[in-house]
Amino acid sequence: MDIKKVISEMTLEEKASLCSGSDFWHTQAIDRLGVEAVMVSDGPHGLRKQADVADHLGINDSIKAVCFPTACATAASFDKDMIHELGEALGDACQSEELSVILGPAINIKRSPLCGRNFEYFSEDPHLTSELAVGLINGIQSKNIGTSVKHFALNNQENRRMSSDSIVDERTQREIYLPAFEAAVKRAHAWTVMCSYNRIDGVYASEHPKYLTEILRDEWGFDGYVMSDWGAVSNRVNGLKAGLELEMPASNGVNDARIVEAVRAGELDEKVVDLAVERILTINERYLQNRKPETVWDKEAQHELARKIAAECMVLLKNEDAVLPLMQGDDIAVIGKFAKSPRYQGGGSSHVNSFKVTSLMDALEGVSGITYAQGYDIVTEESDEKLISEAVEAAKNAKIAVVVAGLPDAFESESYDRAHMGMPKCQNELIARVAEVNPNTVVVLYNGSPVEMPWLSKVKAVVEAYLGGQAVGGATKDILFGDVNPCGRLPESFPLKLEHNPSYLTFGGEGDHAPYSEGVFVGYRYYEKKKIDVLFPFGYGLSYTTFDYSNLTVSSKSIKDTDSLVVTVDVTNTGKAAGKEVVQLYVGDKESTVFRPVRELKGFEKVQLAPGETKTVTFTLDKNAFAYWNVQLHDWHVETGAFDVQIGRSSSDIALSEEVVVESTVEIPQHFTLDSIFFDLMKSEKARNAMKPLLDGMSSTFGADVDEEKSDVAQSAISNDMAAAMLQYMPLRSIVSFGGGQVTHAQLQAMLDQLNQ
Ligand code: BGC
Repeated sequence: MDIKKVISEMTLEEKASLCSGSDFWHTQAIDRLGVEAVMVSDGPHGLRKQADVADHLGINDSIKAVCFPTACATAASFDKDMIHELGEALGDACQSEELSVILGPAINIKRSPLCGRNFEYFSEDPHLTSELAVGLINGIQSKNIGTSVKHFALNNQENRRMSSDSIVDERTQREIYLPAFEAAVKRAHAWTVMCSYNRIDGVYASEHPKYLTEILRDEWGFDGYVMSDWGAVSNRVNGLKAGLELEMPASNGVNDARIVEAVRAGELDEKVVDLAVERILTINERYLQNRKPETVWDKEAQHELARKIAAECMVLLKNEDAVLPLMQGDDIAVIGKFAKSPRYQGGGSSHVNSFKVTSLMDALEGVSGITYAQGYDIVTEESDEKLISEAVEAAKNAKIAVVVAGLPDAFESESYDRAHMGMPKCQNELIARVAEVNPNTVVVLYNGSPVEMPWLSKVKAVVEAYLGGQAVGGATKDILFGDVNPCGRLPESFPLKLEHNPSYLTFGGEGDHAPYSEGVFVGYRYYEKKKIDVLFPFGYGLSYTTFDYSNLTVSSKSIKDTDSLVVTVDVTNTGKAAGKEVVQLYVGDKESTVFRPVRELKGFEKVQLAPGETKTVTFTLDKNAFAYWNVQLHDWHVETGAFDVQIGRSSSDIALSEEVVVESTVEIPQHFTLDSIFFDLMKSEKARNAMKPLLDGMSSTFGADVDEEKSDVAQSAISNDMAAAMLQYMPLRSIVSFGGGQVTHAQLQAMLDQLNQ
């Protein structure tokens, strides 16, 4: 289709109508010009294609589909290849169902464990989020299906999600909240971006030229179209001007009429409408030219893939006395409602209508020695003594008790935030009571976000299974019995208590005002800096085998910020089982003039190792690994100095470290005034030289020279060091008043004029 030509033949009304959906899920068609409608659908971890009654909150049924593990789980895989494979499977399903774009991935950063949508998001860390987003997008788009990376931008809470106003400083945005979107656009070429509901600095994200045009298009080179989150449009004309091409869902003609009116009134340039239509049609064509409705969607095969992925995501948090893996034939009491009716996905727009679900009890069918007790109910928090007693009885008679617990649906969902970080009281009590009678108690958790574990010291093992998709039961069995060696790592810190979380003081906002006052210190960046103990750190996870690190090498001990640094490390499987290790590379700036975290994840690789096997893992670091966002340059900047390049088992367990000096090639321009303080002036060689003639000509009264011959009292009152320390924060202008008339303002100004040239 010659898109430009077709647009030139459209009426203004037709063009305006293309700027919003024709209904809940389709773009507009214009039959007379051969413009076809295409369908988009949620996402992100399975299809929610609605045939009949449509909604954006997951209320009405959609077609039967495959529910893969949710993002909180897939992030724990730390596996770029596996997430690519997941993307390919989603892409096939979309081709088969004739969906042009799947609404995901959702890549907002987990600022607080309380965000109701954390189960749909990847991580507290921007590097991990970026790598996984790129893998998933590439996988989906390799099938010629578009993605819609969401929710752009700064949408990290559900509280007042359609009105809250995120207030985030520039550096924090660039270092924490924007990198994954940048990677999705620059590296994975996401076909579409979904703007979020919230405001940013008072302006709706759906009307924000800074984000939708300046950053997205001018800076990152985005060439797809932006669609609104469902109902995120306030002022449609402002949205179009700012760079929002497609409003979803349909406004039933209301906003089309506004667009036409605005053009006719000269408020909106028709070219803006033309461009929006061109962008939408270009992406639609990308799909239409490559659609393959004959694609076979093998749901059974995808169910098996979902099981494989779920197992690769589970995180073994504790395994005292190697109580896991379990042995077939042992007497095992399986306890918990979730063992029969697993919680495997979250509520809201991502809710998939699974074509089948396998629970742990389903997966254990035919295994001898298994007994079951329900233990708790999910409709109430209150303990049911009868259910607990039955469970305790079953646990008493078994060698091992496996309690499957976690968060019920109502505890975390799209549209509202969690009230606390606790599990239901009835489940906490159940676990404690079971552990009292059975010393080999294992807890499996199905939840989308960190929970407190008051019973942790009383149980032998804990498996964090997150929300593992419809095949979670089979995957849980694979992990418990050692058919799969656990290889997930936590993509987020589990704080000891909610109050320790850095966003605790301001999360959720004061009314609509939502300041991100913790700045760049999100998750482990904060806990490491404050040396606050956590329940489990970011990157943590055990295995049924053990790994050792050796031979950390760096290609050079000293580089320029334009060079790249090659880092290698050997990792050895020192145990008896084959397994996978996630090799994590962190970088820390040893000395810096800006507040920086102790270390930040800058690389990770998952490696499979047979017992005794050693592999060398190679990382290539560039400027980004050392840089921070400089608000004066509005760009990344590396401060000259020493950095630690570290290999860690988690953010708080560093195995090996090497120091590297990085030299900056960018000089930050400095401008001095009469108000500049001596501390800053003296740091600049240029300023020191410029000031020298003036200072040399002055008597010592203003300078730091204290007469060492003076009385003891005078000396102890102010030593040379003290005087220097006191003077350093004085402004240059104080030479005039305190210098006894030896230097004039005019002289200082002349010196500054020369210095600032
Ligand atoms: C959600 C989006 C979703 C859309 C369509 C909105 O409520 O925030 O993530 O894609 O609905 O269902």
